[in-house]
Amino acid sequence: MSKRLTAVIGWIDDRFPLTSNWKAHLTEYYAPKNFNFWYYFGSLAMLVLVNQLLTGIFLTMNYKPDVNMAFASVEYIMRDVNFGWLIRYMHSTGASMFFVVVYLHMFRGMMYGPYRKPRELLWLIGMGLFLVLMMLAFTGYILPWGQMSYWGAQVIVSMIGAIPLIGQPLSNMLLGDFMLSDAALNRFFAYHVVTLPVLLVTLVVVHVLALHEVGSNNPDGIDIKKNRNSKTDIPKDGIPFHPYYTVKDIFGVVVFLIVFCAILFFAPEMGGYFLEYNNFVPANTLQTPDHIAPVWYFTPYYSMLRAVTINFLWIDAKLWGILLMGGSVVIFCFLPWLDRSPVNSIRYKGPYFKTALVLFVISVFVLGWLGTKTPTPLYTLLAQIFTVIYFAFFILMPWYSKIDKTKPEPERVTG
Ligand code: HEM
Repeated sequence: MSKRLTAVIGWIDDRFPLTSNWKAHLTEYYAPKNFNFWYYFGSLAMLVLVNQLLTGIFLTMNYKPDVNMAFASVEYIMRDVNFGWLIRYMHSTGASMFFVVVYLHMFRGMMYGPYRKPRELLWLIGMGLFLVLMMLAFTGYILPWGQMSYWGAQVIVSMIGAIPLIGQPLSNMLLGDFMLSDAALNRFFAYHVVTLPVLLVTLVVVHVLALHEVGSNNPDGIDIKKNRNSKTDIPKDGIPFHPYYTVKDIFGVVVFLIVFCAILFFAPEMGGYFLEYNNFVPANTLQTPDHIAPVWYFTPYYSMLRAVTINFLWIDAKLWGILLMGGSVVIFCFLPWLDRSPVNSIRYKGPYFKTALVLFVISVFVLGWLGTKTPTPLYTLLAQIFTVIYFAFFILMPWYSKIDKTKPEPERVTG
C-alpha cells in the first residue's frame, strides 16, 4: 500500500474502527472451508436488495401515489422516461428474484440446520426479514393501481378486518380510511418506500452481525471452532472470508446476473407469473376480475387460505383460513425447538427426516400451483390434503426427528 494511503487509513482508524471491522468481518472472519452451492443465496439476497433500493429510488422520481394518476404514471415510466422500462422491469423482476433467492436460502437452512443452537436468534432475525419482505412485496404490488393491485389488496384488507376485536381498528389505521382509497394508496406508498426498506436494511445488518457473533454453520452441520490450531487459535477448517468467499460469491453474482438479464430482456412478465396480465388494466372498483390470484410467491399461502371451507368450533371458515395462512409462515419460527435430532445436517439425518423434507417441498409446489387456479371441488380437496402435509412436517418433527436413524457426525468437515 502506498505511504499516503496508509496515512489516510491511519487517520481514519484513529477516529473510526475501519481496519478492525474490515478484519473482524472480512479478512479475519474464518468461515468453514466446505461451503457449497447453497451458500450463494445469502450474498445474492444482498445483491437483489441493492438492486431494489437503487431502482426503487428512480421509480419514485416519476411515480405518483394518487388513485387518478398512479396507473398512468407507471405507463409514463414504461414509455416516456429514459430507460424507464428497464428500471421498472429490473424492480419487478427483482421482486420475484428476491423471493427465489430467499426461498433457496431458507431451504438451505432446512437442510443443514443452522437454526439450531447457538443460531436460534439468527434464524428468528431471518424470519423477521422474511415477514418484512412479504410486506414490501404486498405494498409494492398495490402501487401501479391496476386491477390485481386493487382486488388483491382488497382480499388482504378484508382479511385484516376479519381478525376479532383488533381487526377493524387495525385496518383503519393501516389504510387511513375505511376502505381502499387515495388515502390508503398514499400510506402504502409511504410504507413501501420508507418504513419497510429502512426496517429491511436494519434487519440485514443485524442478521449479519448475529451470524458473525456465532459463526457460520456448514453442510456438515458441525462446529469448526472445536478444532483450532494450537498456535494461532484459528479453526483448522476455517478460511478467511476475504478473499476466498468474496471471489466465490462474485462467481455466483455473475451467473445470477446472466439469469436475471435473460428474464429481464426476454420474459419480464414471465408468462403472467411475475407481473399478472390483469394488472395492465387500470383498477376498476366496480368490476371484480374473473379470477383473483396473488403473484407466485404468495400462492402457497393463498391456497391454504382457501382450503378451509367449513366453520369449526366457534371460528368460521374465513378466520380459520386466515389463521392457517398466518400459521404457515409463523411456524418456521419454531423450527429451532421442533428439531430434536442429535445431528444438524441432512447428510447425517435419517430416512424419516429426508422423506418429510421431500414431502414438504412437494406440498409447497402443489399448493403454489393450486393457488394460481380457480378453485373446484377437486382442487379444494387437494389443497386440504397438501395443507395437512405442510403442517405435519413441522408438527410431527419433534417425534420423527427423535426416533430417526442418524449417522454419526464426523470430527472435521468432509469437503
Ligand atoms: C433480505 C433477506 C436476507 C438477506 C439479505 C440475508 C443475508 C444473509 C447472508 C449474507 C448470510 C451469510 C451467507 C450465507 O450463509 O449464505 C446469511 C446467513 C443466514 N441466513 Fe440470511 N438473509 C436473508 C433472509 C433470511 C431468512 C428469511 C432466513 C430464515 C428464516 C435466514 C436465515 C439465515 C441463516 C440461518 C444463516 C446462517 C447460515 C449458516 O451459518 O449456515 N436469512 N443471510
